[in-house]
Amino acid sequence: MRKNVNPHSSRFFSDKKWIIPFFASLLVSITLLLASIFGMYSPNIDEDVSRFDGMEVGKKSEEWTDYFVEDNIRRSLALSGNSKNEPPRFAYLISGTKGDSQRIMRVLQAVYHPRNQYILHMDFEAPPRERLDLTMSVKSDPTFHQVENVRVMDKSNLVTYKGPTMIACTLQAIAILLRGSLYWDWFINLSASDYPLMTQDDMLHVFSNLSRNLNFIEHMQMVNGWKLSQRARPIVVDPGLYLSKKSDLLMTTQRRSLPTAFKLFTGSAWVVVTRSFVEYCIWGWDNFPRTVLMYFTNFMSSPESYFHTVICNNEDFRSTAIGHDLHYIAWDNPPKQHPRILSMKDFDKMVKSGALFARKFARNDPVLDKIDKELLGRANRFPPGAWCVGNSSGGADPCSLRGNYSDFKPGPGAARLQELMNTLTSDEFQSKQCSSK
Ligand SMILES: *[C@@H]1O[C@H](CO)[C@@H](O)[C@H](O)[C@H]1NC(C)=O
Ligand SMILES: *[C@@H]1O[C@H](CO)[C@@H](O)[C@H](O)[C@H]1NC(C)=O
Ligand SMILES: *[C@@H]1O[C@H](CO)[C@@H](O)[C@H](O)[C@H]1NC(C)=O
Ligand SMILES: *[C@@H]1O[C@H](CO)[C@@H](O)[C@H](O)[C@H]1NC(C)=O
Repeated sequence: MRKNVNPHSSRFFSDKKWIIPFFASLLVSITLLLASIFGMYSPNIDEDVSRFDGMEVGKKSEEWTDYFVEDNIRRSLALSGNSKNEPPRFAYLISGTKGDSQRIMRVLQAVYHPRNQYILHMDFEAPPRERLDLTMSVKSDPTFHQVENVRVMDKSNLVTYKGPTMIACTLQAIAILLRGSLYWDWFINLSASDYPLMTQDDMLHVFSNLSRNLNFIEHMQMVNGWKLSQRARPIVVDPGLYLSKKSDLLMTTQRRSLPTAFKLFTGSAWVVVTRSFVEYCIWGWDNFPRTVLMYFTNFMSSPESYFHTVICNNEDFRSTAIGHDLHYIAWDNPPKQHPRILSMKDFDKMVKSGALFARKFARNDPVLDKIDKELLGRANRFPPGAWCVGNSSGGADPCSLRGNYSDFKPGPGAARLQELMNTLTSDEFQSKQCSSK
């Protein structure tokens, strides 16, 4: 059909008799083509994706896959869901600000595993001296040096925490991670005030058994209420986009109308998202993630809405969104602007939640030592995993000798996480995906 519109046929257009039959047949063939593609292939694709199965998508539509962007997305979903032969890998971004370098280091060590990738970011408020200190501690660690999976972002970004500069920073880190030579499966966003509640062996073991298509994004649709009027109607400007000194978001007096081209979603700014989803956001086969990014430039608290709005408005990814951020976060009742600082008395609740991480913690709070000791079994630099095969007698660090990175020694944390995963992937939970409740 594409051949019919080649330049040689243009001379026929001067003869009016040709036009009507020509366009009529063109219209019929396009209709038939669209009907066959959307009518025959889409429904079973959607159904399959929503069951989180890896499957062979579009076998029949293979000859057309180069013409439709959406088929590319489906193909990549199908491929990523299938790659179960190797255990997964996580890509972490750990970010902090002035005075956070030691906390970043502590979080890094607590979530370290040689399978994973790590990027550390200290924002522009931190003095260059502190960034240098962090870089030096990474450089001088023999394990990081040999495995080469920890990197510090050299140029720091000016980040306004409720503004678009935060999303830009996250997307930049993901872009760097995507360009890395090593394949990874999930991206995880942490700050210096987060801390893990289980070992990487626990996480890797449980995630080995999950579909690689699941995105953990706590989300709900913004319908009516204060959130819409306080977030979607105002127009804010983030000076971090163009000034060299940090200042707060500017509020303008104008208000704008609510979007009608897409639905707005909001939720937690902490996410565990798949490689295929962030590839969709960053590599941009489809223009939607870019359009939404621009829309959110003037949006209040955009990091709590960007990924959520993108994922819930895409019919292929929507069914992969699990409404949980895998964090334990405690809010006051009624909730204040920031979550409650966790301490010793929250320990049991944190453990019971089955979550991967908790936040937020005060610097060197004693509860972190308790987590190290009782949940992570950490006596040396890293929580010991099956990859640590060195001699540990006399308090030596067993992780100084590295074994097979694909071996895991799951502990009680894995059982807690498995239980949480069973709830999250249950039918009842899935029925709430991207809904307005
Ligand atoms: C990522 O993590 C930071 C914590 O450093 C958080 O403030 C931010 O909103 C998160 N999410 C996104 C989408 O950037
Ligand atoms: C993996 O999942 C299957 C079914 O979903 C379950 O039967 C099996 O026990 C799980 N394996 C592990 C190691 O958790
Ligand atoms: C571990 O090291 C101690 C001495 O530091 C030695 O006596 C012991 O045999 C070693 N164990 C193994 C399994 O190599
Ligand atoms: C590492 O362990 C995995 C799983 O236990 C195994 O399949 C693989 O062959 C091992 N690799 C090496 C080099 O021993």
